[in-house]
Order: sequence, then C-alpha cells, then structure tokens
Amino acid sequence: MIRRSRFIGCGSYLPEQVVTNDDLAQRLDTSDEWIQQRSGIKARHVADDGELTSDLAINAAKKALEHAGVEASSLDGIVLATSTPDQTFPATAAKVQAALGMGSGFAFDMQAVCSGFIYGLSVADNFIRAGQAKRMLLIGAETYSRILNWNDRTTAVLFGDGAGAAVLEAVEVDEADQAQQPGVLSTHLHAEGEHWQMLYVDGGPSTTQTAGHITMNGREVFRHAVNRLAEVVDEALDANGLEANNIDWLIPHQANARIIESTRRKLALPKERVVLTVDKHANTATASVPLALCEAVYDGRVKEGDLLLLEAMGGGFTWGSALVRW
Ligand code: ACO
Repeated sequence: MIRRSRFIGCGSYLPEQVVTNDDLAQRLDTSDEWIQQRSGIKARHVADDGELTSDLAINAAKKALEHAGVEASSLDGIVLATSTPDQTFPATAAKVQAALGMGSGFAFDMQAVCSGFIYGLSVADNFIRAGQAKRMLLIGAETYSRILNWNDRTTAVLFGDGAGAAVLEAVEVDEADQAQQPGVLSTHLHAEGEHWQMLYVDGGPSTTQTAGHITMNGREVFRHAVNRLAEVVDEALDANGLEANNIDWLIPHQANARIIESTRRKLALPKERVVLTVDKHANTATASVPLALCEAVYDGRVKEGDLLLLEAMGGGFTWGSALVRW
C-alpha cells in the first residue's frame, strides 16, 4: 500500500467589488478589446480597503472545512501560499490558524509566486506521505491589487484578488493500480532563478522597506510559460504511465487565456475539458488554481474518479504540475 493525500473538500472566496475592463479604460490608456484579445480577461475582483489577504484566506478556509465536513481542530497543519502576505511576519497562516480556532498543529506561509498552490500541494502531500500529518489545510490567497502600479497599463489590467483552499487527508492505496485510486498521484516542481528579473516586485523589507510594485517583461514571461508548462505536463503524465487522453480536466493557472490554449493544444484536449476562470478573475496568482478547481467541483463538472491535471508558472521563475485522481 502507498500512503498519500487526497482532497476531501475545497472552498473559495472572492471580494465583492468587481472591476471591469471598461472601468480600467476610464483611467488608463487601454480598452476592453485589447485586454480581452491579449489575455482573455473581462473583469477581476478587488479587495476593499482594510480587507486583507488573511480575511480572504479565512473565508475560503471556512468553506473548505465545511465542504469537507471536518473541524479546524482536526487539522495537523496549514500551508498558506501567498506572495502578498498581510505583513512581513507573522506568517498569514498563523492569523488564519487563530481565526479558525485550530488550537494546535503547525502553520506557515510559502512563497513561489503564481506556482504557490502547486508548490504548496507538493509540500502538504509530502507531509502526509512522510506520516508527519494526517490532515492538512492548503490555501492560496492573494491581494495583488496592493502591489499593482495602477498607472501601468502593462500590468494593472492583468491581476485580481481572491483565495482558494482545500483540505487534504491521508489515504492508503493499492500500489498496483495507484493511478486509478483517489489522491495526489504526483507533483513536479521546478525553478530557474536566473530569470527572476523577468517578473518581480521592486520592493520588500530588505531592499526598499516598502511593499513595491509588480514589474514584468510580459513577452518573455509568456514565452517561458508556454515552453515550461508543455514540459511539465508531459513530465506528470510520463511519471504515472498516463497519456493526455486520460485527463478529464485541465485545471491550469489562470494568467492568460492564450497560454492556457497553448497547453490545451499541446495535450490535444477538447476545449470543454479545460476549466477557465481567467475571464472573471484575471490572474489571482496562488489563488487561481484552487479558485478554478473549486468552481468545477461545486458546479459538478469534476466528479469522483476524474483525473485532474493542475499546472502553474510564476515569478522566479517557478513552475510545476500535479496529477490528482478526484
Ligand atoms: N492596453 C493597451 N495596449 C497595451 C496594454 C494595455 N493594457 N499593455 C501593453 N500595450 C501595448 C504595448 O505597449 C505594445 O505597444 P507597441 O506595439 O506600440 O509597443 C502592444 O500593446 C503589444 O504589447 P505586448 O507586450 O507585445 O503584448 P502581448 O501580446 O505580449 O501581450 C501580455 C501582453 C498580455 C502581458 C502577455 O505578454 C502576457 O500575458 N504575458 C504573460 C504574463 C503572465 O502570465 N504573467 C503572470 C505570470 S504569473 C506570476 O507569477 C505573477
């Protein structure tokens, strides 16, 4: 038997305020047409003043716990992936732990920019595989509205705020047909730090002592994303002896509809097998994969036994994939 993790519930949260492309076009030299054509984005949610990353995370976490039908006190740990924490420290995860009344266990943040949920899934799954945890809460939560230069049309139109969460639990599966059994089949992580200047925030505690703003070479990020994601989805399938036509749902990081389309074509998947939320949410960084996953679970598209391919690429560069049997 193999011990690994399986998803037992998920939840998501989006701030109430919606900002459309037309809203942005009123204060920036841009248009709904340009934004939709280049990125597939129509609107994004933006947190209210005083609404923090932890608030979004707590809302998503509560829904995930309710969906899973378990109490926070039964969790062994929280992994919260974010690149927009409330403060430099404590970890935003610690504030979430307190708000949930978890009372015991461990809680920490991790940072892999937009790949954070895939990295976090790998970390949580490995805690469970190693026997150090039985049940974990994994959260991706962001308030990118706080690190955007709202006067820079090349970045301001691309991002949004939101949070998604999942509860993972230990499961024992038969090794012989493990790819058919429920759970996280495998995770695959990569980084190429030499490209960090392609996508970074020009601030931080040890550089400017301010939060800073996103700076991006969009074309280079696009080029790398298309190539690296193509490699990492193959890596996931090869590692499990599976083929693209075994995938029921591609649940990609939602940065740009054209990047997603490139991965879909590479896998020769029909459009109906791709979960797309970039139009409504824009790029919510670590929150984008769990937001998409949760939407497809709640509306009944993802069913028990389905094979899900999750992937993401982000600043660093970091990228990764995961195959999950729901
Ligand atoms: N509105 C109107 N025109 C614009 C805008 C805008 N918002 N932004 C740029 N332009 C102009 C440019 O100035 C340029 O004008 P020029 O030809 O006169 O110089 C023209 O539009 C084309 O710009 P490009 O940058 O070549 O446009 P492109 O087709 O590459 O699309 C985009 C830009 C959408 C940013 C694309 O490159 C992209 O999505 N890249 C990947 C971004 C990404 O995924 N980032 C997140 C990674 S996840 C993370 O870790 C945070």
